[in-house]
Amino acid sequence: MNKSIVTAVLVLFCCGLRAQSLNVERPGSGSIPSLKEVFRDDFLIGAALNMSEVEERDPAVSALIASQFNTLTPENNMKAAFLHPGWDRYDFVQADEVVGFAMRHHMKVNGHCLIWHSQLPAYMRGMQDADSVRRYFTDHITTVAGRYDGKVYSWDVVNEALNEDGTLRKSIFQRSLGDNYIVEAFRLAQKAAPHTQLYYNDYNIERGSKREGAVALVKKIQAAGVRIDGVGIQGHWSAGRVPLEDIEKSIQEFAALGVKVMFTELDLSVLPSPRGHGGADVSDRAAYEDQLNPYVNGLPDSVQAVLAQSYAQLFGLFMKYRDKIGRVTFWGVDDGQSWLNGFPVRGRTNYPLLFDRQLRPKPAFYKVIGTAERAGVM
Ligand code: G3I
Repeated sequence: MNKSIVTAVLVLFCCGLRAQSLNVERPGSGSIPSLKEVFRDDFLIGAALNMSEVEERDPAVSALIASQFNTLTPENNMKAAFLHPGWDRYDFVQADEVVGFAMRHHMKVNGHCLIWHSQLPAYMRGMQDADSVRRYFTDHITTVAGRYDGKVYSWDVVNEALNEDGTLRKSIFQRSLGDNYIVEAFRLAQKAAPHTQLYYNDYNIERGSKREGAVALVKKIQAAGVRIDGVGIQGHWSAGRVPLEDIEKSIQEFAALGVKVMFTELDLSVLPSPRGHGGADVSDRAAYEDQLNPYVNGLPDSVQAVLAQSYAQLFGLFMKYRDKIGRVTFWGVDDGQSWLNGFPVRGRTNYPLLFDRQLRPKPAFYKVIGTAERAGVM
């Protein structure tokens, strides 16, 4: 057999394997491709889950999650406000349920998040006493990371510590503990959770000065001899306006530091942005106006196509750098439960994910699947 025939046979065989892996049964929906299967050799595929999903209140949702994703991030329930409600009191019930769900469905858990200025327990909000902040900081990381070591695959150790200009946010932790608090957070996490991957996570860190700030932060942690395994680029972008060049540069620059790159909270808004809004600063809200909510009765085909195209470009890029990317996680499963229906304007109808409100795969889903198939043939 000559070389080109052998190559053709191999390509056909590989395509056949990919095609087989595409057919996954989901109750009531016939068979659709599986994201986790088609990207199996490339990167993990995840979704953020709320407690209704974790508690499996809807079997169709559970079946969809189990068939599509091999990793999950709890959308809220491992944040400090939920886990650490009293000064000396932890409540692990929901976090344990998250781990239980993942075990039942053979999924990895990304713990989200150990140190964040937002969604803090009430007793910490406005805390001025530096000694108390240090006690909270040390105890929280040590207790939580220690309890879940070996049970969660990874932690977002520090979340959203940077300003848009790349300087450190003047958070409660920075003000009380100084600029070195991030290194200290990773040092404590490394000690408490030696078997867990440790990440820094933020929005807009693909962009200019903020990216430079993130690169400097990773270098600082490494220079202190402390372990950091990855950087999470959240990925709250808008359809038709995904900053592909910045994303490509940031993959290259973060990977050059020897850490994995993760896309951790991916969603693409299709709605108009008030004040040219971008990112995910939860305090940045705008008032409702009808013109900011144009698709209450459904998404027009033309916008659906823009969304699909943006997702295709993004996953085309992810596939180009699949050796550097550890995970791609969507911030939600279906459009109906996306936080973007309430942010930055409350009460809107957004369509940022791959599954619609009836859990049906959208055109964007098939475009994303297509990027894996194309890469498989090349
Ligand atoms: O728990 C309370 C509940 O007791 C109360 O009855 C209810 C009434 O509104 O609110 C509940 O809290 C809500 C919480 O989610 C849990 O459901 C908050 O109002 C709501 O603001 C909060 O929103 C979350 C937001 O983080 C808070 O900062 C979103 O669901 C969640 O998607 C979002 O996730 C963040 C990431 O953690 C970090 N990156 C940005 C991303 C989007 O903002």
